[in-house]
Amino acid sequence: MGTPEVRPARIADVPYIHHFLEIYATKGNLLPRTMNEIYRHLRDFFVIEVDGQVAAIGALEIFTEDLGEVRSLVVAEEYERRGLGRLMVQRLIAEARHLGLRRLMALTYVPAFFHKLGFVTVAMDTLPEKVWNVCVKCYKYNQCDEVAVLLNLGRNAP
Ligand SMILES: CC(C)(COP(=O)(O)OP(=O)(O)OC[C@H]1O[C@@H](n2cnc3c(N)ncnc32)[C@H](O)[C@@H]1OP(=O)(O)O)[C@@H](O)C(=O)NCCC(=O)NCCS
Repeated sequence: MGTPEVRPARIADVPYIHHFLEIYATKGNLLPRTMNEIYRHLRDFFVIEVDGQVAAIGALEIFTEDLGEVRSLVVAEEYERRGLGRLMVQRLIAEARHLGLRRLMALTYVPAFFHKLGFVTVAMDTLPEKVWNVCVKCYKYNQCDEVAVLLNLGRNAP
């Protein structure tokens, strides 16, 4: 595997981002996002290129004045378990710190992966900003089985 390069996403990446999300939305692991929605949120997205191909995607969404969310995180199946997920989340953490956010959350089916990066599992109701703005509109609202994880980006953060 060549050296992975993390970079902000570009317009030409949108079909790849859409395709990656479709694969996992179909399996129920991630929420689907339309091409139009991806264009509108493109500045949230980063991609990792390996040997000139998009091998991973991830997004940092600003949620409130202090809370950001890791969204749309996918590593292509053939590149899993080679450190690309870690590289992407580290980039999103650096971006969140750069912007001045104090907390970074994710809703996930793979909390163990996030724990490796310093996130801790928290009760969903400790993130009312997310629940009352976004989750209430989600088709899974009444049967949400995702785990909320949180990283404190403050001075004592890991
Ligand atoms: C979850 C995902 C992003 C992990 O990416 P990855 O590139 O395979 O993970 P990495 O190789 O960077 O792993 C980093 C660490 O997490 C661990 N890890 C990775 N996937 C894991 C999993 N599913 N369960 C438990 N631990 C996991 C690795 O063993 C590694 O630990 P180590 O530092 O002790 O060696 C990737 O498997 C994926 O895209 N899954 C499908 C979509 C999805 O579920 N996205 C998350 C939505 S929030």
